[in-house]
Amino acid sequence: MRAVDLIRKKRDSGAHSPEEIEFLVSGYTRGEIPDYQMAAWLMAVWIRGINRSELAALTETMLFSGQVLNLARIPGRKVDKHSTGGVGDKTSLILAPIVAAGGLTVPMISGRGLGHTGGTLDKLESIPGFNVNLSLEEFYSVLRECGMGLIGQTAEIAPADKKIYALRDATSTVENVGLICASIMSKKLAEGIDVLVLDVKTGSGAFMKSKKDAVALAQTMVGIGQSVGKKVAALITDMNQPLGRMAGHSNEIVECVEVLSGGGPADLRELSVELSAWMFFYGQKTVSVAAGRRLAAEMIASGKAKAKFRQAIALQGGDARVVEEPQRLPQARARVDVPSPKGGYITTTNCENLGIALAILGGGREKKEDRIDHGVGLEFHARIGERVKKGQPLATIHYNSDAKLADARALITASYEISGAPPKVRNPLIYQTILKDQDRDAPSSRRRRTR
Ligand code: URA
Repeated sequence: MRAVDLIRKKRDSGAHSPEEIEFLVSGYTRGEIPDYQMAAWLMAVWIRGINRSELAALTETMLFSGQVLNLARIPGRKVDKHSTGGVGDKTSLILAPIVAAGGLTVPMISGRGLGHTGGTLDKLESIPGFNVNLSLEEFYSVLRECGMGLIGQTAEIAPADKKIYALRDATSTVENVGLICASIMSKKLAEGIDVLVLDVKTGSGAFMKSKKDAVALAQTMVGIGQSVGKKVAALITDMNQPLGRMAGHSNEIVECVEVLSGGGPADLRELSVELSAWMFFYGQKTVSVAAGRRLAAEMIASGKAKAKFRQAIALQGGDARVVEEPQRLPQARARVDVPSPKGGYITTTNCENLGIALAILGGGREKKEDRIDHGVGLEFHARIGERVKKGQPLATIHYNSDAKLADARALITASYEISGAPPKVRNPLIYQTILKDQDRDAPSSRRRRTR
């Protein structure tokens, strides 16, 4: 088999056999297929798509590219959540401490920034000393001690996703149902969890712009998870504007601490509590989602969730003082407001462009090797439906480079649509919950390696 022939096959709309998928993915993971061939194949997949059996083979090959954790030695149910990504989407760092404080174990394998969206690992690395590259033994030990651990894909767990994810980020091959599904489900199924709650975003700042596509992605992922015996639920949630008021790495840590302290923006608080509630319910900690909401609220009000976050930071080598002293996080050198060009109601935002503006400031990668500037960020002052006056700040930019400022500022100004009348339709924060899907091809349990 030759990679060049398989690229041509997909370019010409052919369907791959499981052996061909395995050849490409395993060869790339081992370093035998170069970046440029994998990038060409990913673009062909992005354009031509993959069918169900190709998706099952891709997910399976990526899942078994590394080890599948066996967390039986840690008592209790193991639960996790994964979001398809958005702007200001930071709920993982809020719900993991809530759910761990409530008595479940959260073994979370996350990703870095992808496209215009921020990544949990990059956000965590804004905390001085925080190590997202724990060995498996270290990960087990952190999970045993505090009930939550936050790491990235490694050479041991989901190594295929680690490489392919970084390549997709730099080659504009992110927004594809098959590639997203295989990426998410391969690393989540490698965690050895019992329960997975998915936050599938839709809207201008999501990879799935339409609700129909988001529902299709959610159904596909729920179906794959359930077919291998996991309890999986997906919430379809709004990403037509940033979640919360903050985007950018240090900024988002500060906002997470606000929510864990009982404050923070209402949308971020509500979604974090809702996702936690599903984790509690599916993790059999509560008898209903409503009881899960109450338990989540109690974990925040009692200070237990915040204490858990502090403990988790310290156990992974981070400076836990950032929880009380946010000035210890990297800060940008300067700030400037972006004024509204006119008065009126905000009717829509181009939320993807807000994420791109942050990336331009240094908060995202253009190339795989780029380093993130953790101090830069955006603070949003006005939400869809609100009335603004001419000159009123729409956002504040936290920046380090004057050279990057003008482009980011222009993009932010152009991202707000302001009109004389309020928007006719108000999007809910949560559109619907997907609990089931039809039968589908699933990753088989052959070749399973556990640890
Ligand atoms: N999150 C992931 O882990 N992978 C994707 O492809 C998109 C979001």
